[in-house]
Amino acid sequence: MAQTEYIGEGALGNIRSVVAAYAPQKIFLVTGKGSYTASGAAQGVAEATTGLAVLHHTDFGALPLQEDIEKGIAAYTAFGPDLVIAVGGGHVIDMAKAINFYTGKKPLIAIPTTAGSGSEATQFAVVYKDGLKTSLESPDILPTVAIVDPALARSVPHDIALASGLDALAQSIESLWSVQATAESKKYAQEALALVWKNSIPAIETGSAPAIAAMVQGAHLAGKAINISKTTACHALSYGLTYRFGVPHGLAVAVFLPALFRHNAFVSPEQSVTPEALEQLLVTLKVKRLSGWGIQESDIAQLAKEVNIERLGNNPAPVTKEDIIRFYTQAL
Ligand SMILES: [Fe+2]
Repeated sequence: MAQTEYIGEGALGNIRSVVAAYAPQKIFLVTGKGSYTASGAAQGVAEATTGLAVLHHTDFGALPLQEDIEKGIAAYTAFGPDLVIAVGGGHVIDMAKAINFYTGKKPLIAIPTTAGSGSEATQFAVVYKDGLKTSLESPDILPTVAIVDPALARSVPHDIALASGLDALAQSIESLWSVQATAESKKYAQEALALVWKNSIPAIETGSAPAIAAMVQGAHLAGKAINISKTTACHALSYGLTYRFGVPHGLAVAVFLPALFRHNAFVSPEQSVTPEALEQLLVTLKVKRLSGWGIQESDIAQLAKEVNIERLGNNPAPVTKEDIIRFYTQAL
C-alpha cells in the first residue's frame, strides 16, 4: 500500500484537509507526554479535530512494551475510532502502529517530532515482550499518511536530538550494506546518508534550523530505505542495551557502527564516511561508551545470548558468537 507523504517546512498545515478527507467521527490520538505541545503539533492537530470526538492516549512509558500496547488496545476498542493520529518520536509512532494493527487497522496519520527513527515510513513496529525485542511486520502497519515537518523537531532537547540523529545515521548505513538492499532502498539510503552525515553536528550541537530540516528529511528517507532493506547487526546488538540498561536506541546502535563497518569491509558511497570518521563523530558528540551506562563485562554473556538473530541474518558478513562478544567488549 502506498503512503501519502507531506514533507517539508509547513507540512503540518496539511493536517486539516488530510483529516477532513477521512470525514472521521472519532479519532484515537497517540502522543508523547511532553513533545506533543512542545513540538507545536498540538495546535495544528487541535484545529484539525475541532468538534470531533478525540481520545488522547498517552498512557505508556518510554519503550513500546507489550503490556502498554494491551492497555492501548483496551482503550482503542472501548472507544471505536475510525481514524488514528500518532504524533511523537519513533517509540510513540510504533505504539500507535501496533495498537492499530492488532485492533482496527484504521487509516493512520503519522507525524514525527524527531529527526530519527523514520517509523512514519516503515511497515514494522518494535515491541518489547517478556524482556525481548520483537518486530511486528505487515503492509497494514505502514502509516497511511506521513506528515514530516521540520518545524516540529526544532524544540527537541539535545539528548533526544542526539539519539534520534544517530539512529538515522545507523539506519542509512545499515540499509546500504544490508543483504536485502535493492536499487530503490540504496537510492533512499544514499540520499539519507548524505543529508545526515553533513548535518548531524550542526543540527545536534547548535540546533541550526536548516541542518535540522535536512536531518528530518534524511531520517524519513532512511526510514523508507530500511522499510525495504531492514536493519542489520548494529540494530540486532542494540536491543538488550536499550531494554536492560536504558541506553537510548540511537546510541545503542551507533556504538557498533565503526566495528561493523570494518567487519563488513564496507565501502561507503559517501567517501568521507569511514570507520575512523565515525569514531571521531562519536567522540565529538560525546557519546558515552557502554560502561558509562553501567554495563560491565559480566553482562556480556547474557546480552550476547539475547541478540536478535533475524536482524543478524541481514548483515553482509557472518557474525559469530565470538564476534558478538568482541563487539560488546570493544564498546564497553
Ligand atoms: Fe533504529
